[in-house]
Amino acid sequence: MVHIITMVSIKGGVGKTTTSMNLAGAFSRKEYSVLLIDADFQGNLTDAVVEDYEQIDKTVFDLISDEQLLVSECVTPTGIPGVDIVPSDLQLMQANRVLDPESDPMSVFCLKNKLDEHARNHYDFIIVDTHPDINIMTTNSLTVATSYIIPVFTDRHLIRAVQMTSDYADKVSQANTELEEIGILIGNYDARKKISGLMKEKAEKFFSERLLNTIVHTNTAIEKAALDGQTIFQYDLRERGCKFFKCLAEEVLHKLGV
Ligand SMILES: Nc1ncnc2c1ncn2[C@@H]1O[C@H](COP(=O)(O)OP(=O)(O)O)[C@@H](O)[C@H]1O
Ligand SMILES: [Mg+2]
Repeated sequence: MVHIITMVSIKGGVGKTTTSMNLAGAFSRKEYSVLLIDADFQGNLTDAVVEDYEQIDKTVFDLISDEQLLVSECVTPTGIPGVDIVPSDLQLMQANRVLDPESDPMSVFCLKNKLDEHARNHYDFIIVDTHPDINIMTTNSLTVATSYIIPVFTDRHLIRAVQMTSDYADKVSQANTELEEIGILIGNYDARKKISGLMKEKAEKFFSERLLNTIVHTNTAIEKAALDGQTIFQYDLRERGCKFFKCLAEEVLHKLGV
């Protein structure tokens, strides 16, 4: 059974894209086959992992606008071994023109309905990266998912961002009853900053076991790697960033019972 994990937060700049690509990298090192879906019109994940734009034929926008197209027909290879992507671009900003729940309530299940048998059988994991907003694509990214992770950075908005995101995911759970929270992931954690320690403590109190044990610490190599279109594992196996995402992959597998 394919596990479909969505990275979701109504707040931007909290590590959704970084986690998507490096978790895919960690899974691929364990010989799992992974499909990334870039459901963010900003296309940061696409920018990071697609080596040659000429290779892109179909995008998420094509997928949702052409009734005939299925997920496995919209796949582009990435520079990460064993990892493909359904890429996105700015066209996806028009998603709400194509998918309108007011006129068609089933439009919140568009991605799910297009996930064909071939895609379900070919990949062990599908990781969906989203835009930091409540929009039709993010809702689709949660209706297609079997589970989700809420990435956070330890800034003063942490608690509120998680609460708002959870409320949203809970609402979508009414339409997708198999949806489960894997947990809240602290990323870009800098122990030298007082605010980081304070917010981590607050999060531990507030969210207790919902908080994942893995903490991804600040590691500039993670940022540099993404600029080079690489996961931290491809960039430099000696970097401590590798340990964090390896740990995360183990914890996610454990939580999913894999
Ligand atoms: N562990 C980390 N160490 C250093 N920089 C990080 C780390 N995690 C994320 N970043 C950087 O923080 C910024 C926001 O992360 P990103 O994954 O793009 O967030 P989102 O997708 O939620 O908007 C990016 O510039 C990214 O490179
Ligand atoms: Mg992003």
